[in-house]
Amino acid sequence: MLTEEELVQRIADGQLVESVEHMSAGYLAELKRILLISADTELLGAVMYYPNLIARRVPEKTVGAFLAVIQDELGHAHVDYRMLEDLGEDADHLVYGRAPQEFKHPYAMDMPYDTFAEVALVGAFMDRAGYVLLSDVFEHTSYFPWRRALVKVNKEESFHINFGVRNLRLLASDPDTRAETQRAIDWMFPLTVEWFGLPDDLKTHDKQLRYRLKGCSNDQLRQTWLSQVVPLVEELGFEVPARLDPGTHRYELDFPFPCAFDEQEKRWDFDNPVTWNDVITRWKCRGPANARLVEIFQAGRKRLDALREAA
Ligand SMILES: [Fe+2]
Ligand SMILES: [Fe+2]
Repeated sequence: MLTEEELVQRIADGQLVESVEHMSAGYLAELKRILLISADTELLGAVMYYPNLIARRVPEKTVGAFLAVIQDELGHAHVDYRMLEDLGEDADHLVYGRAPQEFKHPYAMDMPYDTFAEVALVGAFMDRAGYVLLSDVFEHTSYFPWRRALVKVNKEESFHINFGVRNLRLLASDPDTRAETQRAIDWMFPLTVEWFGLPDDLKTHDKQLRYRLKGCSNDQLRQTWLSQVVPLVEELGFEVPARLDPGTHRYELDFPFPCAFDEQEKRWDFDNPVTWNDVITRWKCRGPANARLVEIFQAGRKRLDALREAA
């Protein structure tokens, strides 16, 4: 392995990192941390659609496409856990051996999505958030195995976004589903704004930027997402609490960020600003669907283990 100074020099020289001998201990630890967030996000990205398909809460003609999305996400998760194995982690333990609250996917994925409008916005808003983050990784990351893997992953993610937008247009064109869709936008828009994490002025020591695991800051990535989502939502005639400031060419939010969120009611209280410490506490407690979603993929293994013990 390299010392920290050697690693920083390697990155400054524009050389890529291919395996553990090109890393410092700090780089390896940060790479594993960010890869685990990615792996868990991909895995839960597959699982979160599952209850809606079982309960038939999406139109029959979209079921095949949702199954294709689930298959893609499982493939993406497999790639990420495989990279973690190459770095010395036990993927089997990571998937089947952890408690639900130990998973690292964003809090937003632990919410229940109960209507077709909400599921459509998972694609249009949240797959897009994932795509914005992974496109930055693809363009800038110093860890070359990840960049190679993302060629396929990002192509599939853009299909997921297009599918979400198509579903959203369908909902927008039907007077019977417009109110329900607006209601979903009202709580899912701020939740996806939050997906990008702490604002830059609170995140002074960003190891991911230092090690060039990614290239853009949280606020830059959040602006990229806003610049794609706000015009889309406005074009479809829905209300969205953000606007482009013509002076700075930046998107400004029309609500205090962060503010209080009622996860049972799926409602933000724009009159009640909170601190980022409050948000981090909510994230650490995980969301209402956390245990139920993890149980979906761990239950089969538990049954299998019980059968083996009985045999
Ligand atoms: Fe994915
Ligand atoms: Fe996706």
